[in-house]
Formats: sequence, C-alpha cells, structure tokens
Amino acid sequence: MNKPKILVACPIFDDVLAALREHFEVTDNQNGTSWTKAEWTQRLAGHVGALTVGANPVDAEVLAANPQLRIVANMAVGYNNFDVPAMTAAGVLATNTPDVLTETTADFGFALLMATARRMAESEHYLRAGLWQNWRYDMFAGAEVHGSTLGIIGMGRIGQGIARRAAHGFGMKVVYHNRSRLSAELEADCKARYVSKEELLKTVDHVMLVVPYSAESHHTIGAAELSLMKPTATLVNIARGGIVDDAALAVALREKRIAAAGLDVFEGEPAVHPDLLTVPNVVLTPHIASATIKTRRAMAQLAADNLIAYFTQGQAVTPLNTVTGRPA
Ligand code: DGY
Repeated sequence: MNKPKILVACPIFDDVLAALREHFEVTDNQNGTSWTKAEWTQRLAGHVGALTVGANPVDAEVLAANPQLRIVANMAVGYNNFDVPAMTAAGVLATNTPDVLTETTADFGFALLMATARRMAESEHYLRAGLWQNWRYDMFAGAEVHGSTLGIIGMGRIGQGIARRAAHGFGMKVVYHNRSRLSAELEADCKARYVSKEELLKTVDHVMLVVPYSAESHHTIGAAELSLMKPTATLVNIARGGIVDDAALAVALREKRIAAAGLDVFEGEPAVHPDLLTVPNVVLTPHIASATIKTRRAMAQLAADNLIAYFTQGQAVTPLNTVTGRPA
C-alpha cells in the first residue's frame, strides 16, 4: 500500500525524520531553504500532511490551492501562522507543541531579563572591543533584579513559569495582566497579583511579554505604552514579533525613555528593524527561547507524533481544532 505523502518543511533531527519515513513518503527540507508563501503553497502540492514552523502560513489561499491537505503540524506552541477557523472550515487539522517547551522557555525569559537588566551583552561587546582599562564604580551599572517588581503580560503556562522563578527564586513582587484572571490557587502558586495593563506599565521595574500574537495583541507595546513605563524600566519580549512596535521601541531606547530591552522575537523576523541594531541598550537573540537540544527534540517528536497518530489512529495528540474530514 502507498504511504501517505507528507512535507517536512523545516530541518529536524535525523532520527525523527527516519521515524516519519517508516509511516510516510517524506519530502524533506533538511538544508533549511526558506520559501516564499507561493513556494510553500506549491511545495505542498500532492502532500496530505505537513510539519512546519511559524515561517509558513496556512490560510484560506494556501488551503484552496491544496485540497488534498488533511493536517498541518506546527513545531511550535505559537500558531499565529495558522488561520485555524479557515483550517477547520476546510477540514484540515491543526496541531502545535504545547507543554514540552514551557519550562525551557521560562528559563530563557528569565535569562534574557537578567542579561538585559544587568547589561551583559553591552558589557561583553565593550570587553571584546578591548575598551576595558580599569574598574569603575559605575561601569555598566544596571537595574536590580532580585527584590524588584516584575510585570508579566500574558499569563499562560510560560508566564506562570516565569512568575514562579521570579517570586520563589528571586524574591520579586509579581503582577500580571492577562485576558482572563488566573484562579486563586494559581495566583497563590505564582505569588502573582492581577492588575490593569496601565497600572502594570506605570509601576513595575521590568515588563515581560509572553502574550500570544493575534490582531488584538498587535502592538500591545507601542509609543503610548512605552511612555507609561519608568525611565529605569526594562522590557523583555519572548512572545512574538508584532507584540511590540519595534520602531517605537528603538526610539524609546535611543532617547533613554526606558533603560533597556531584551528581544528574542521581531516584527518581520528574521529581518530586524535597523534602528534596533544601532542602539546599545538592547539585547538581541534570534528566536531561541525554546532552543535546548532536549526541548527542540521533544517539540520535533511531538509534531511528528501528531502526524503519525492522525494517520494511524485518526486522532492527533495535541489538536487545535476538531475536524470531521475534509469536504470534497
Ligand atoms: C514557539 O514554540 O512558539 C516558539 O516561539 C518557537 O516558534
């Protein structure tokens, strides 16, 4: 019997690819070529399933051009590249990789907060450039982390992981803003207090963004929000590009309207706003918050398991929608 054809649109671990080949006829992209939307749409032709990352959109146009498609598995917890209602209407299952990256991503959020507040990147560049001549009391003096106040916008599983690290590990006061309030038990566990977005921005020492991207969360932080923050405050974005207005942030950083920022995600990534590249008080990393070998392996495995489970048992492990079969 012919195996179903799937497209693995991003490089993944060789053994995960080998496991997929046991079940599927696989077209891979192990050299990691980036595709335009038109190229991705064309490459999907003839494939009933796909494993992808956020760079490849699945919307009504892509679906209309690929009526054979049954499932697209994202190797990411975020799925703003999916138009889930359009996928459901087309009978295409959408899956993501929740849970397996929560703690690793929370670790990174905290690391980026530390690096940003304590000016690690800026001082390392200074040292590498051979500029260090003597010890000075004010050399790269940054902001305190322990005992300070952290404001988390977006209090899902990753936000809660960061809150626990902050409150239990660093004695920080934690406030949060979210579409919905956590249960009293979760608030107690995270030692986090619910506040309005405005109060959060005006009062905290560090703002951490962990909110999923959507039309509603586009530019959650823009010029107006930046102007509410303390001039000593730091801003960390590990959520998605587009949550922050990067152009407005570059201006605020240059004019020292806030002290510093740490960014792992960017509007239009992998392109980075050119003004962010020229301001010193920002730490920039290339979307690596979930990047440990163990976690990336778990993400790849879960994405593969979703495809295998769907085609062998008719049910995915971590579905985002319910479909009854693709209309003819
Ligand atoms: C995620 O899982 O959403 C990470 O940001 C990687 O894309």
